[in-house]
Amino acid sequence: MTLASIILAAGEGTRMRSKLPKVLHPVAGKPMIRYAQEAVANLVDVPPVLVVGHGAEAVKAAVGDGADYALQAQQLGTGHAVLMAKPLLLGKADLILVTYGDMPLLRGETLEKLVQLHKQSGGPVTMTSFIGDEARGFGRVVRAESGHVTAIVEQADATPEQLAIREYNVGAYCFSGDWLWSALGEIPVSPKGEYYLTDLVGLAVTAGFALESLVLDDPDEAIGLNTRVHLAEAEKVMRKRINESWMLAGVTILDPATTYIEADVRIGVDSLILPNTTLRGQTVIGEDCEIGPDTILIDTQVGDHVQLLASVLEQAQVADHVTMGPYCHLRKGAILDEGVHLGNFGEVKDSYLGPGTKMGHFSYIGNAKIGRDVNIGAGTITCNYDGERKNLTEIGDEVFIGSDTMLVAPLKIGDRSVTGAGSVVTHDVPEDTLVIGVPAKEVRKLEKNDQ
Ligand code: UD1
Ligand code: CA
Repeated sequence: MTLASIILAAGEGTRMRSKLPKVLHPVAGKPMIRYAQEAVANLVDVPPVLVVGHGAEAVKAAVGDGADYALQAQQLGTGHAVLMAKPLLLGKADLILVTYGDMPLLRGETLEKLVQLHKQSGGPVTMTSFIGDEARGFGRVVRAESGHVTAIVEQADATPEQLAIREYNVGAYCFSGDWLWSALGEIPVSPKGEYYLTDLVGLAVTAGFALESLVLDDPDEAIGLNTRVHLAEAEKVMRKRINESWMLAGVTILDPATTYIEADVRIGVDSLILPNTTLRGQTVIGEDCEIGPDTILIDTQVGDHVQLLASVLEQAQVADHVTMGPYCHLRKGAILDEGVHLGNFGEVKDSYLGPGTKMGHFSYIGNAKIGRDVNIGAGTITCNYDGERKNLTEIGDEVFIGSDTMLVAPLKIGDRSVTGAGSVVTHDVPEDTLVIGVPAKEVRKLEKNDQ
């Protein structure tokens, strides 16, 4: 049987009170609509159809070619939204999964179970529900004395007795395609002027069908996001899931409660993540690393056996055996090669530091290319900006930069040269040369082992 899927994402999400369409709000760093798309991706036989409307272009951009798109120009309700997908799917699928774009915690495995249950049940629609303590504005599942579902009643339209029901509609359904397409036309308009998809349950029951509901074991999966309070709840559950999956994959997380790992981050085995650490974006960490405490990595690549303590790294690359911190800041384009050591209060931006280079204390390196085994003395600054341009500083291998050196770019310092403490270097320095002073002048050529 061919399975298709429709994901509803046309609503504005007024209750979020946001300029951003609701389904683009990130959960663990990823727009929530992508979770909905990924949950069905491996189940369906044809591309999922995303119903877009509010902020359609932005929503499409977030999902890209992971879906086909149907436009719902006016948001007349979830039933009307499904109707918008009809031209794309009519005659193409026996079964149709319908989910909402604001339920990032719903698992693909759960939807798979829903489809199985639907195949066993004789009804044209099979729903999902959960028993919980918090209503979150969810529709209530009304059952007959026989136990069969008879209707879903929206919170706004429910009687006080119905409001007391603790079984809630999750918002994931499996339909028989032919029945869905004909029944959609029979949905009555609600008191709010909308066409509720949930009314199809009542219609099927009236037509004499006995319906089944898949009751979720894990009610957290059903956290639908209508407000930013729900967003924070979902974030917490997602964070726990992500942390647990990394622990089960061989990563030690000392304090999961203060460890924030976004959805796309990757971490190698036997790495240790210490408290109060945030790993964001496309960050990748190798094996046997020690990250944190108090460390933030954004879109940063880290090799193996790296130690990062109380530092912030953004769009940086750090090779194997690098040690850093506390209190370093790597900015965009900072590349530290193997075994580089940064002590405390170092900032590096748009620069390459060669293997074994050391920068122990209070330095700024910007727009520089630095060779191997260079010693960058305490307080060294690349004066890279002349008010108009960012200029390049090139330092050769085995150079010794004395404490408090100002390197006024553009500037080249040859291999094995030395700058005296407090020098202000304004002119290129050849190889094997000692310079000192303000501005720095050549003193003499250096012999081997002269440093
Ligand atoms: C819906 C269900 C409710 C369920 C809850 C679970 C209906 C009528 N109600 O209520 O029973 O308990 O979800 O989370 O279905 N959308 C459109 N076009 C529209 C309206 C909505 O695409 O015209 C999309 C929204 O973008 C959203 C989804 O459908 O992703 C659900 O809409 P929402 O307004 O959040 O419905 P709820 O009030 O949460
Ligand atoms: Ca909702």
